[in-house]
Amino acid sequence: MSSPSRASFGSKFGIIMAAAGSAVGLGNIWRFPIETGQNGGAAFILIYIIAIAPHAYKKLSSHPFWSNIGFIGVLGGSLILCYYVVVAGWVLKYMFLSLDGTLSTLFVPGDASGYESLFGNFVSSPWSPLLFMVLFVLMCHFAIAAGVRKGIEKLSKIFMPALFVILIVLVGFSLFAPGAQEGLSFLFHPDFSKLTTGSVLSAIAQAFYSLSLCMGCLCTYASYFGKDVNIVKSAVSISVIDTMVAIMAGLIIFPAVFSAGISPQSGPSLAFIALPGAFQQAFGSVPAVAYIVSVLFYALLVLAALTSAISLYEVPTAYIHETWHIRRRYAALVVTAVCLMLGTVCSLSMGVLGDLHIFGKSVFDFLDYFCTTIMMPLSGVFIAIFLGWVVKRDIFMDDVTNGRTLRAAPAGVIHWLLRWVAPILLLAAFLGVLGVI
Ligand code: PHE
Repeated sequence: MSSPSRASFGSKFGIIMAAAGSAVGLGNIWRFPIETGQNGGAAFILIYIIAIAPHAYKKLSSHPFWSNIGFIGVLGGSLILCYYVVVAGWVLKYMFLSLDGTLSTLFVPGDASGYESLFGNFVSSPWSPLLFMVLFVLMCHFAIAAGVRKGIEKLSKIFMPALFVILIVLVGFSLFAPGAQEGLSFLFHPDFSKLTTGSVLSAIAQAFYSLSLCMGCLCTYASYFGKDVNIVKSAVSISVIDTMVAIMAGLIIFPAVFSAGISPQSGPSLAFIALPGAFQQAFGSVPAVAYIVSVLFYALLVLAALTSAISLYEVPTAYIHETWHIRRRYAALVVTAVCLMLGTVCSLSMGVLGDLHIFGKSVFDFLDYFCTTIMMPLSGVFIAIFLGWVVKRDIFMDDVTNGRTLRAAPAGVIHWLLRWVAPILLLAAFLGVLGVI
């Protein structure tokens, strides 16, 4: 719980921007459209929206088991960070590749092989991806070392509005792309025949990933909130912003993809192989527009990745700073050192360390799988049981209603959901992804 000497955010706008910054990330712009593409478009989005529910928890038990569940978050958040910075490095590289015109010169109508070999050669080469990863890690490091108000809050207040402006401009361009109609109908007409148990579970997992739940980020940020912050209202605003960004990203990506005649299910390489060509195809009649769209899109990804990675960074930094009583600056150095080491292994696992396998997966794939399909839902089950059953209802209600000064009904509903719905749904998602059900 917070003590008077702890860091805190300075304004409500800062709080929403920082928390939305954590939520809005590569998950919205990169993972969401891929998942939607693979799971039947609008039907997937519907399930995703149903799965979004506000969560917040605090360390409220002295029992060793429960006081340690927060550690799953610290560990999970740190591990996600180590591969997140690798993809963020790729995004940074692609921003430069669009800026210097490489992405437009490689364009050959109907033939993506140029982009395919560019991406393949880049990720499997040892130095270039490492260099961009290090650049990205340094940006996060300095933001975190600057502190909660001067680093996280200040940057979020600049980056998030910039991100919204870029999104709106890109959606504007996209609605005029030749494939806009087809893209929109894919996104907004649910095809329930494509909805399987697997896609329902994927939608739940995507909602968790996208909202940065259960990995300690929002919990750490919430511990910097003042006592007067309305947690339920903030959680709803963050969820709405996050979902809007994901849908707007779909509005940008699908029209371009359809106008280029690419299958929307083209998988994780969508952002790096299919999209550069799709943007050229869709806007190529006015090369300046194709250039601007491409640069803005990768700038958008960089901004989104930065604010999310910063929130992941803050979890172990705050943990080390507070548990070991080390200055924040030095705690950030420890996190940077570990992140660089593990990040390097992840990055090299795309090339020279490709033969290094953990449970049959490359280091990169293993970390992604382990964090998002095992740690996240497991931590979610524990948090829901903890808040629904272990913490006294009165304490929960007091906290969520700011000492009973706010309406009790929403807090009551959340408590009921945490008690009866969330543990079952999350356990089902966990077992489902493991293939048990
Ligand atoms: N929510 C982030 C995204 O959408 C990813 C993330 C997951 C960040 C978990 C923090 C914790 O990209």
